[in-house]
Amino acid sequence: MDLQLTDRAFIVTGGARGLGRATADVLVAEGARVVVSGRSAETLAAVREELGEAVEVVVADNADPTTPERLVRAALDRWGRLDGALVSVGGPPRGPVTTITDDQWTAAFESVFLGAVRLGRELGAALPRGGSLAFVLSSSVRAPLADMAISNGLRPGLAMVAKTLADELGPAGVRVNGLLPGRVETERVAELDAATGDPEAARAAGVASIPLRRYGEPAEFGRVAAFVLSPAASFVSGVMLPVDGGMLRAL
Ligand SMILES: NC(=O)c1ccc[n+]([C@@H]2O[C@H](COP(=O)([O-])OP(=O)(O)OC[C@H]3O[C@@H](n4cnc5c(N)ncnc54)[C@H](OP(=O)(O)O)[C@@H]3O)[C@@H](O)[C@H]2O)c1
Repeated sequence: MDLQLTDRAFIVTGGARGLGRATADVLVAEGARVVVSGRSAETLAAVREELGEAVEVVVADNADPTTPERLVRAALDRWGRLDGALVSVGGPPRGPVTTITDDQWTAAFESVFLGAVRLGRELGAALPRGGSLAFVLSSSVRAPLADMAISNGLRPGLAMVAKTLADELGPAGVRVNGLLPGRVETERVAELDAATGDPEAARAAGVASIPLRRYGEPAEFGRVAAFVLSPAASFVSGVMLPVDGGMLRAL
């Protein structure tokens, strides 16, 4: 199947590593051009070096209100077009409702929730007919994760915002979807396992909860994200798609 990505231009936020980076890798391999953003000039320079001329990098925090406009401008200045975006960001800290502080909620709301809403609103308005937005969310959209109160609190609302945006942008021919990773083997997941104090036991428990009995590989997520962003998925909109090896108990 031809994903029809050649020469199309995409924005990938939070793309220096993890799921964003894996998606940028697939988009570039399929012939697309990508603006990759993150908060560290150093890690973005490494992305630029590894992916070469097909990539532009922009130091930009998703929580910053100027970020969407800067990213759109980077795509249009460099590639003269914008066809879609993957909105990813660093995940919120772990912890239970009983100990998460107001400051932690507020910081996570700014970057994970409001940052994504703002990017969706501004990037969505900049996309042409046939454009596609995908939000990296979490399996916590459908079922709570243990010790992940902030994710459990914010992701379901963000999924409903994405669904609403799909309604609003659909008449203009722009698609909006959410991706729900379960446990995909990124540095964040390794950090979350390590934070339990017994990473091997955490991983074993995680694997046991996945019917495919393994963590996902970032490239497996990247391929799904690239498909959803591509014209090959031209009639897929308003969907929350798990990429979780069957982990979610909800349909
Ligand atoms: N991996 C999984 O299995 C999984 C499962 C469920 C949900 N998720 C969610 O999916 C998202 C991506 O996960 P991941 O595993 O790829 O995480 P990751 O390995 O920590 O990567 C996150 C990326 O986002 C960048 N970033 C962090 N905060 C940012 C901000 N405020 N603005 C712009 N860029 C920012 C980071 O670079 P800098 O630090 O340099 O900015 C990094 O490149 C997270 O929100 C996570 O909670 C992941």
